[in-house]
Amino acid sequence: MTDTISRKLESKIDNKLISKSRRHELDDGFKKGKVINEVLDKPTVMTLYKMITDHVIAYVNGSVSAGKESLVFWGVTEDNSNVALKIYLVSTSNFKKREPYIVGDPRFRHVKKGTKNLVYLWAKKEHRNLNQCYKAGIPVPRPLYVTNNVLVMDFVGVGGSPCKSLLTSNVEQNDYEQAISLIRDLYNKAKLVHGDFSEYNIFKTDDGLVVFDMGSAVDLRHPNSKEFLKRDINNITRFFEKRGMIVEDPVDIFEDVVNEL
Ligand SMILES: Nc1ncnc2c1ncn2[C@@H]1O[C@H](COP(=O)(O)OP(=O)(O)OP(=O)(O)O)[C@@H](O)[C@H]1O
Ligand SMILES: [Mg+2]
Repeated sequence: MTDTISRKLESKIDNKLISKSRRHELDDGFKKGKVINEVLDKPTVMTLYKMITDHVIAYVNGSVSAGKESLVFWGVTEDNSNVALKIYLVSTSNFKKREPYIVGDPRFRHVKKGTKNLVYLWAKKEHRNLNQCYKAGIPVPRPLYVTNNVLVMDFVGVGGSPCKSLLTSNVEQNDYEQAISLIRDLYNKAKLVHGDFSEYNIFKTDDGLVVFDMGSAVDLRHPNSKEFLKRDINNITRFFEKRGMIVEDPVDIFEDVVNEL
């Protein structure tokens, strides 16, 4: 593709991505198109564009969160529902950090070391984990679609504002009980260990807790699944203890969870 054609195509894509969202100016004057084309590489913009032509989403309406390795955008579907678009960044992807959560998981045993597009695999893995939880009746954002490095799921929140996480909510004893039940159900019903179960990755909604950020979750048969489970239990116990809740001994919880099978 010549440079001129490629530039024209790029600008057409940008316009398409932001054309409808321009009609929805946000109060803060957020420049959606600008953010999109400044932070996303061309293949990702192409992926989003294809999602629009495939009718997965109608448009991207703003950004929600910007982490080092992933960005979350607010998307809107053709029937006007809000979705979260989690985009794994290819450029800052740190596979060394993720390797322990893939290698050893029997669901991914065919993945060879040094495989290209591990970011794509990670997006698929999060989608698969969400699906496994959703099917087991665990409160997670409903997964809708995954392609390349973009994962689409139900938006948990109002408009483009996500629900508060446990970290920024007022917590009660019942939230602690729910969090422990989540760990138990993840293990015994979805056959998964979250791997990053913390106050940052749990929404407190009017209908109870919702767990998300499932990229690290591993199958129970992963050789380190019990170690990850212990860490998850310890982390969440520490959080609730600091917030003044009455907590059980993490060792007892661990025994209970693994022996419920
Ligand atoms: N389904 C969703 N609905 C609404 N907001 C969401 C949703 N998923 C994520 N978010 C928002 O985006 C933020 C970041 O999401 P998430 O925790 O999945 O990514 P992350 O922490 O960057 O992931 P990682 O740790 O894998 O890099 C969340 O704290 C939340 O505010
Ligand atoms: Mg997170």
